[in-house]
Amino acid sequence: MTTPVPGAGGDDGVSIRPAERADLLAVVRIENESFPQPWPYDAFDQYLGEPAFLVAVESGEVVGYVVGTVNRNFGRYLGHIKDVAVHPERRGLGVGTSLLRRALAVLAAHGADTVKLEVRRSNDRAKRLYRQFGFEPFRRVPGYYGDGEDAIVMMRKFE
Ligand SMILES: CC(C)(COP(=O)(O)OP(=O)(O)OC[C@H]1O[C@@H](n2cnc3c(N)ncnc32)[C@H](O)[C@@H]1OP(=O)(O)O)[C@@H](O)C(=O)NCCC(=O)NCCS
Repeated sequence: MTTPVPGAGGDDGVSIRPAERADLLAVVRIENESFPQPWPYDAFDQYLGEPAFLVAVESGEVVGYVVGTVNRNFGRYLGHIKDVAVHPERRGLGVGTSLLRRALAVLAAHGADTVKLEVRRSNDRAKRLYRQFGFEPFRRVPGYYGDGEDAIVMMRKFE
């Protein structure tokens, strides 16, 4: 199941599909270029098969990914966007928007009534993207990241 992303660049466009093990080396490369404390290969490996672990593929190359999960929590289903990144050279073209849109649709289809995520307090670009999807700041977690930076927990409820 893949969906072309109009206007996301490239002759072949960008497709969003579930991640496979063969994608993981490319995912880890993008992760390493995107975060000061990147997830290791095994972290991604354990999320293979999660419904909202998706990759964006352009001309056969992985250009971005999102890792989203759904967990039962006190009788409700809570979605969690755990990671999202786009290759540095492919940012600003709508790939992140497409990944997040699809991931949220998948989480909703799996019964999530609320989705949460953590974002670095300084990551204005990501916060702006999340706000566009209806995420609101919920609380601050002091020193959440390994380098001591605070996290902002953002939440979005589905109607
Ligand atoms: C955050 C990230 C995934 C967004 O992916 P992207 O493909 O560049 O996003 P899009 O092109 O879909 O842009 C989505 C929104 O991001 C914001 N944005 C994009 N480029 C921006 C820029 N150069 N400056 C500021 N905001 C920007 C805008 O709000 C934009 O919406 P708009 O186009 O309607 O203005 C990407 O920047 C990235 O990989 N960053 C590093 C990893 C990271 O921080 N991940 C989030 C961890 S919580």
